[in-house]
Amino acid sequence: MNFQKIFDKPPETEASAPGRVNLLGEHTDYNDGFVLPTAIPQSTTVQLGLSTDGHHHFYSENLDEQVDILDSNHTPSGFASYIFGCIHVLEQAGYTISSLNVYVTSSVPMGSGLSSSAALEVSTLRAVRQLLNLPINDVEIAQLAQKAEIHYAGVQCGIMDQMASSLADTEHMLFLDTRTLERRVLPFPSGAEIVVIDSGVPRTLASSGYNQRRSECEAAARSLEVKALRDITDARIVEDLPEPLRRRARHVVTEDNRVLEAVRGVSSERFGELMNASHASLRDDYEVSVPALDILVEILQKTAGVFGARLTGAGFGGACVALVAAGKGRAIANHALEAYNQAGYTGQILVPETGDK
Ligand code: GLA
Repeated sequence: MNFQKIFDKPPETEASAPGRVNLLGEHTDYNDGFVLPTAIPQSTTVQLGLSTDGHHHFYSENLDEQVDILDSNHTPSGFASYIFGCIHVLEQAGYTISSLNVYVTSSVPMGSGLSSSAALEVSTLRAVRQLLNLPINDVEIAQLAQKAEIHYAGVQCGIMDQMASSLADTEHMLFLDTRTLERRVLPFPSGAEIVVIDSGVPRTLASSGYNQRRSECEAAARSLEVKALRDITDARIVEDLPEPLRRRARHVVTEDNRVLEAVRGVSSERFGELMNASHASLRDDYEVSVPALDILVEILQKTAGVFGARLTGAGFGGACVALVAAGKGRAIANHALEAYNQAGYTGQILVPETGDK
């Protein structure tokens, strides 16, 4: 299938945006904290043209599904909600958006915690910016994308995914202060590369569990009389909170500290230890891991050449990320996947991409 076949004319422009994998700093962004994602090679591409019948038409190649927006007061569901949301937030920002034909194709896996939705939002906004020559910068693109996700896709997310998709590349880590949006592009720890394996376990409970964790963090911040948990730097301060707020807050405070240590420029070995500690904290204090992720992480952590491994993204299923010795990614990923599948699961190697290395 292609744009021409669906819309009977060629596209006028196209733009892409990548998915992301977060290396450290999980569940810190909605606490005004620090994150350290990088882009993955998989991306989403949006092709655009003007529609002549006064209605928006969206087509997803992956789903082979077309959604026609005949009533623009009614938010569609599924992939169309993200595109619809992007158009609406642009209109709310004061831009006039003509009726569009939108064709989407993506290699970012859905439901693995690698931000397929942010990739769709950012590529849509980039394509519309290009088509209509809108004076919007890349940080504004991320902010508009986050707004679309919160108000039209209904997820109370932080800003990490959209900032990573809009500003990160696959060769660097993006250190981001989610309160000030100050950021720094950093090299990977020396002699290391990343491996990403999908656990094959869908992220059930992800949105209810996510929103619950978020409100627990807000309650902890209120009790500690700070604006956000980012304002606590000494983890001992949270010890008097009632459970589960104590453990939730302890995860956030220690996780922020792990990110800050990592960006001071540590060895690959130390970076790996920080990732292992992050996983333990997400499993025991934040309680967003599931048995499959713990098994996959443990297999990775025990594999020679692995500096460290952890679940990545919101948790409750999805993918794991490992920092491994440079040049060994493919072999380590194959080995870990085989052991994981022998334990009765069906995982999938996402990075390095098949055909790489
Ligand atoms: C999801 C959200 C992000 C972030 C992560 C957890 O990916 O969209 O904003 O909160 O979970 O770190």
